[in-house]
Amino acid sequence: FNVPAPVNEPVKNYSPGSRERSFLKEAISSAYSVQADIPMYIGGEEVRTGNKIAIRPPHNHQFVLGHFHQGDKTHVKQAIDAALAAKAGWENLAWEQRAAIFLKAADLIAGPYRYKLNAATMLGQSKNAYQAEIDSACELIDFLRFNVKYMTDIYAQQPVSSRGTWNRLEQRPLEGFIFALTPFNFTAIAGNLPTSAALMGNVVVWKPANTQVYAASVIMEVLKEAGLPDGVINLIYVSGPDAGEIIFQHPDFAGIHFTGSTSVFQNIWKTIGNSIHKYKTYPRIVGETGGKDYIFVHGSANLKVANTALVRGAFEYQGQKCSAASRAYVAKSIWPELKKLLVRDLASLKVGPVEDFRNFINAVIDEKSFDKLAAVIDQAKADPGIEIIAGGKYDKSKGYFIDPTILVTQDPSSVTMCEEIFGPVLTLYVYDDEKLDETIELLDKTSIYALTGAIIASDRYVIEKLTNALRNTAGNFYINDKCTGAVVGQQPFGGARGSGTNDKAGSMINLLRWVSPRTIKETL
Ligand code: NAD
Ligand code: ALA
Repeated sequence: FNVPAPVNEPVKNYSPGSRERSFLKEAISSAYSVQADIPMYIGGEEVRTGNKIAIRPPHNHQFVLGHFHQGDKTHVKQAIDAALAAKAGWENLAWEQRAAIFLKAADLIAGPYRYKLNAATMLGQSKNAYQAEIDSACELIDFLRFNVKYMTDIYAQQPVSSRGTWNRLEQRPLEGFIFALTPFNFTAIAGNLPTSAALMGNVVVWKPANTQVYAASVIMEVLKEAGLPDGVINLIYVSGPDAGEIIFQHPDFAGIHFTGSTSVFQNIWKTIGNSIHKYKTYPRIVGETGGKDYIFVHGSANLKVANTALVRGAFEYQGQKCSAASRAYVAKSIWPELKKLLVRDLASLKVGPVEDFRNFINAVIDEKSFDKLAAVIDQAKADPGIEIIAGGKYDKSKGYFIDPTILVTQDPSSVTMCEEIFGPVLTLYVYDDEKLDETIELLDKTSIYALTGAIIASDRYVIEKLTNALRNTAGNFYINDKCTGAVVGQQPFGGARGSGTNDKAGSMINLLRWVSPRTIKETL
């Protein structure tokens, strides 16, 4: 299988005065001036319902960037019909032709669409230029290119044959359609879920989060321009319950590729279980869900490394990465020094809209999220067991801004140490150096999620001990680094426990979920 060897897309530098910065600024101005009118895409047709929902930048919520056309259950049915109508043609296309479409899409994003897609992510999801670049440009391009290579690796795996017998594995697409249900926080993930299933020959109904529609629609434009046949991926904007009501009752429902919160995924799983007798085949259930990711700082840690890991790991993209650190355990012996560094650095982080490239912290995604985070901070202020050493301020008058906040708690089992909050709030527990074993045990016991985790230590014995003892607390584990920023092809991504089915996005493991192998024995 001769496909282009994938190489990670280099991250562009938007430094002052650079060409990249001026292109991106132009794309932002154009997005502000155009008043986007975003249709759904069903069977290759642009569908405008007239039920227009305003798109507002979370950091500038008085401004209407444009609208998208909201659909209803009728459009869910139409999308399923369109997908099923496209199925025979798509799955009978040679794999090279499918691959060529997604490789072309990667090149379009790397080239002419890069700034438009980054601008849509920046404005629609309030990501600064760097965070948009590593997400909607680099990670999405990498998913598209690496998945083509993984697809051919899957096809290459064949059983042995003997004289007179030819054994082979045929990697068939699933029988039916796939539902891609995607979150707001990563444009790359939203793009990967429908395209990875489609690459393996499946047809897809794709429903993005309402707060990510802007960037999702640009991805769809790219796919169309790359030559994706009509109906292979159908992009609809409907409520989750409307989509679920039709899709999970349909006999041709063959699988869900989900990323989002744990509670939504668990309810979906129950619904599928209750409808299991209705389907032609057992549906594949793949879900990457919530996290309560941690950074564990040992007394032997390099303080600079620990400080950088905490600041970047907890606060980049306002703590709204599924991988973001939202709890930390720090050894008492180094806490006074580390605290000084953290307080100093957090005070220097600029908070504000994405259009000012100096801002490190932008807005959280919407009012619901803002109100939830503000309530967490207010409760912390009223709790005598919590000291707020940084941040604690919030303001939603213009945008949903929350200062990066650190809560130091005396209770390592408290709600903010255990439950996902999803925002720029880190809860930190200072542990007694003498009680390392008890602290490890406590971390494991309170890990209802197991997505990412990091340990910062220089003592080799401790590194080995923590790596072994914490093996079930994270699907992506980092030693002396932050717990965010997994790169496609380098650190396959996904978690277990309440964090998902751990089918490692951007890997062969994930693509194998979208095929149903047939073993063929031919006697010659
Ligand atoms: P969400 O669960 O609110 O939404 C995800 C998708 O499900 C959206 O398209 C939404 O519209 C839809 N949805 C919501 N309620 C539904 C319902 N009742 N029926 C059917 N569909 C429904 O998640 P979000 O807020 O968009 O994303 C943030 C969450 O995603 C966090 O919990 C985060 O940890 C998680 N996440 C996990 C990973 C990972 O790899 N593990 C990656 C990114 C995000
Ligand atoms: N690649 C993203 C991260 O690891 C999901 O932060």
